[in-house]
Amino acid sequence: MAREASQPTVSAAVMTSLMFTHFQPSVERMTVSIVRHSSVAQVRPMSPRVSNGTSNRSPLAPVGQTKRNPAVWLVAALLSSGAVVALGLALAVYAFFIEPYHLEVTHLKLPIRGLKARSCPIRIVHFADVHSDPTVRLEEELPRRIAEQKPDIILYTGDTLNSVDAVPICRDMFAKIRPIAPLFCVKGDWDLEPDLALPVGVAGVQFLNGYKVLNIRGSELCIIGNDCFVSQRQLVDSTRKAIPAKMPAILITHQPDNDVVMSGKTAGVDLLLCGHTHGGQVALPFFGPIVTHSRLGTLYAVGLNRLNDMWIYTNRGIGMEGRLPRVRFCAPPELTVIDLVPASN
Ligand SMILES: [Fe+2]
Repeated sequence: MAREASQPTVSAAVMTSLMFTHFQPSVERMTVSIVRHSSVAQVRPMSPRVSNGTSNRSPLAPVGQTKRNPAVWLVAALLSSGAVVALGLALAVYAFFIEPYHLEVTHLKLPIRGLKARSCPIRIVHFADVHSDPTVRLEEELPRRIAEQKPDIILYTGDTLNSVDAVPICRDMFAKIRPIAPLFCVKGDWDLEPDLALPVGVAGVQFLNGYKVLNIRGSELCIIGNDCFVSQRQLVDSTRKAIPAKMPAILITHQPDNDVVMSGKTAGVDLLLCGHTHGGQVALPFFGPIVTHSRLGTLYAVGLNRLNDMWIYTNRGIGMEGRLPRVRFCAPPELTVIDLVPASN
């Protein structure tokens, strides 16, 4: 009987031991999980009470924890917030005072059908959106930077003045650019403001409203352009019918809207040059422009694109919007230098 009476006790002990052994890892996992979700970053071992049942410590009491002085946390928080403020100030200084004055030159080589090899490369310099203010930004540097490129043609795609007080600055700039090479311009939306339009003919600035055929070292090419907000379709179609089918055609326009892009594509334009977007003027790394003021959003908002057989290049411009924002970030002023070469087919 005594043996029979002791049997359940042994079995209970064995079962308890087995249960403890079975559930111990779960207890450990729970302990680790709790510690991980607590504010203490370090994963700590299970407390002695849970592991051997002999300690009086709380299961959640960390072993070997170093007490943090609140002053340390305060100093760390102040340093962190100070670093954020310093970074913000540095970015603001850069966007206000550095990037708007840093002119980047973009070089491209584009194959165009119908060009003769002996006359190539034909070099185009394209700039846009000068947006001159009463204080000089890049207007004195720009003519020298254009002349350095030794262009065959200079093309300007509009938005010239932010203020009537900037007319002398702009007039001097165009007076220095005009003798470098043939200059063709189209008006942007700012140029249509009566107070901000440069008078036609000032310093040789001629705004194109139609087309011109140029002969450069034996290769003929056609420059087409008219004012902003005027439909390009009729002009491009009529020009294409008026010139030989194989003659390269370059369409200059202020903004890359749908009418312009589709007109150029269907009429067989070889190269479309535009501006207007300022490359967003404020852009994010790995994301690009945030706001473009373009009907096509970020489509064709910056740089080189291709639509069927037509190249499209959108220049980031020279100046800044007359209204906010008066900064540039990740969208520096741009001068585009394009070498046209014969296409292989
Ligand atoms: Fe503009």
